[in-house]
Amino acid sequence: MNYEKFIEDQVAYIKQTVGGEKAINALSGGVDSSLVTILGHRAIGERLRTVFVDSALMRKDEPQGVVKLFADLGIPVELVDARDEFLSALAGLTDPEEKRNAVTDTFYSKVFAKLVKESGAKFLLHGTILTDIEETVAGIKRQHNILSQLGIDTEAAYGYTVMEPLKTLRKDGVRRVAELVGLPDEIVNRIPFPGPALATRIVGEVTPERLEIVGAATAIVEEELADTGAFQYLAVLLNDRATGIRDNKRQFGRIIVVRCIESTDARTATITQLPWKKLNRICERIVQIKGVNRCLYDLTPKPPATIEYI
Ligand code: XMP
Repeated sequence: MNYEKFIEDQVAYIKQTVGGEKAINALSGGVDSSLVTILGHRAIGERLRTVFVDSALMRKDEPQGVVKLFADLGIPVELVDARDEFLSALAGLTDPEEKRNAVTDTFYSKVFAKLVKESGAKFLLHGTILTDIEETVAGIKRQHNILSQLGIDTEAAYGYTVMEPLKTLRKDGVRRVAELVGLPDEIVNRIPFPGPALATRIVGEVTPERLEIVGAATAIVEEELADTGAFQYLAVLLNDRATGIRDNKRQFGRIIVVRCIESTDARTATITQLPWKKLNRICERIVQIKGVNRCLYDLTPKPPATIEYI
């Protein structure tokens, strides 16, 4: 693909489609939504309102970090606090697809619909990529950002039109284009992080306490594995518990799974052969998290597993 032409074409498409209207987009700090933000600002400048929605599901300090990074690029990003909305929508849910739907619904029909109404935006610029569409259409999993491909009329349902300028690219293509538009390396080579965020890394109910545990494990895994160059690495909190010993007493504790994978486009993945020493250090640190007494390394490739756990 001619990526320079791709940039020109998408900027023109956004300019033409939005016309004199306003658009809005949600930035998560991942490479997909970051690229959409840059293309959108190139196309329509201040008529694009970029927001970062704090869903309570993001990694530690992520909201403030992303806002600062884009401020340094000259793009203002508004931080929207929607933590209560997401946590109450997820309370009591354990089924993976119900959890995904709760995140989608809170995001689009509650938080976004309100923002769009306030701002008068007629368009939503979206970072959907080809893999998201293919897997959703194939019925493998409902990616949280897929709407029109499932026959959802966003105009009628949510009051705005969704535009997806990256829908012909896979992850590797997105990274090439992101580099070309001048996004910093920190974004271009950022490991993928799913839209429903830490909700995909908690098996069972999402609660503030469980988010705290998986958030702490995520920080450890990301710090320890940053130098591997792996495609993606993550920590998952299981719903089971296991017996262990803490302070000489029996403890029925939490279980964290660590995953580190190699892939080019997330459609298939193999497992990184991490050095034993590295695995041991991760385990030592993870079992220091309060309430956690087991740490497992997942050896399952995709397929048959998916990368995330829900
Ligand atoms: P799975 O778990 O389906 O993940 O093997 C494939 C890749 O997609 C990411 N992922 C998502 N990304 N919205 C996203 O934007 C989602 O709902 C979602 N679910 C999974 C996952 O992290 C992996 O890189």
